[in-house]
Amino acid sequence: MTDGGALDTNRPSKARIYDYFLGGKDNYPSDRAAAAQVEKVFPNIRRAARENRDFMVKATKFIAGERGIRRFLDLGTGIPTAPNLHQVVREIQPDSRILYVDNDPVVLAHSRALGELDDTAEGLVGFVDIDLADVDRLIESDEFRNLLDEPVGVSCFGILHFFPDPVPYTIVDKIMAAVPAGSYLSITHATPDLNPALAEVGEVYRNNKMDAFPRTYAEISHFFRDLDLIDPGVVVSRLWPTSAGSPAEEVGHAKTAAEIDAEVAFFCGVARKP
Ligand SMILES: C[S@@+](CC[C@H](N)C(=O)[O-])C[C@H]1O[C@@H](n2cnc3c(N)ncnc32)[C@H](O)[C@@H]1O
Repeated sequence: MTDGGALDTNRPSKARIYDYFLGGKDNYPSDRAAAAQVEKVFPNIRRAARENRDFMVKATKFIAGERGIRRFLDLGTGIPTAPNLHQVVREIQPDSRILYVDNDPVVLAHSRALGELDDTAEGLVGFVDIDLADVDRLIESDEFRNLLDEPVGVSCFGILHFFPDPVPYTIVDKIMAAVPAGSYLSITHATPDLNPALAEVGEVYRNNKMDAFPRTYAEISHFFRDLDLIDPGVVVSRLWPTSAGSPAEEVGHAKTAAEIDAEVAFFCGVARKP
């Protein structure tokens, strides 16, 4: 199941529901109705969405800054939310090339409207409207090939849990096989291991005709099996320093680590292709 095609505001979309959780304005009554069902079973979803976004910033700063990567492929971009990935990268690597991929018509419209995006020229920041279930279409595109002159930071934030097995593994494996050695893979992925309510969140999406499959720690770790994991490995995002650079420490104050992790309920990881 995909969101691709024409804009249909009568049924919810994954991109617009996520926009709602982040406090955005690009959502409709159908999205807010589905979002309310999610919040009923997982009241901390807004916090989880913010933390997911923060991990995007942390991982991207690490890959562009500490590892010097200047090519980025962002799978499942989402409706623009500041800072966007290209802004994080560009602050560190001004002459970088970034390719965004999504198949939601609202994401596409906004990304084109951002002005600095140009999906026809050689470069700099581009956008392709592709359903990632058809990953071969992406891999065969000129836009993708244009990235491959240097190692690529491949970003999969909050996207892989929207595909049934074995599709997300095929997507990751084919893309990581195509990019040069020294490329990076970053993932955030919802999990019921930290909070059993995530299994119900998956059901809410599926009841609303959107595929969603939170996965276990072992299943999420499997994405990285042929790569060199960067410390601290596949973990909760608070174990990475915050995007502002300070440690993300609430533990020991009002909440235990397990309570915080249950509120966030996703695992993240970054790995390098040897
Ligand atoms: C939860 S949002 C995540 C946005 C952003 N990566 C982030 O982490 O903040 C998931 C995005 O994946 C996109 N998406 C879902 N299924 C897709 C598919 N089959 N092909 C391309 N994009 C897809 C949705 O349209 C949405 O924009």
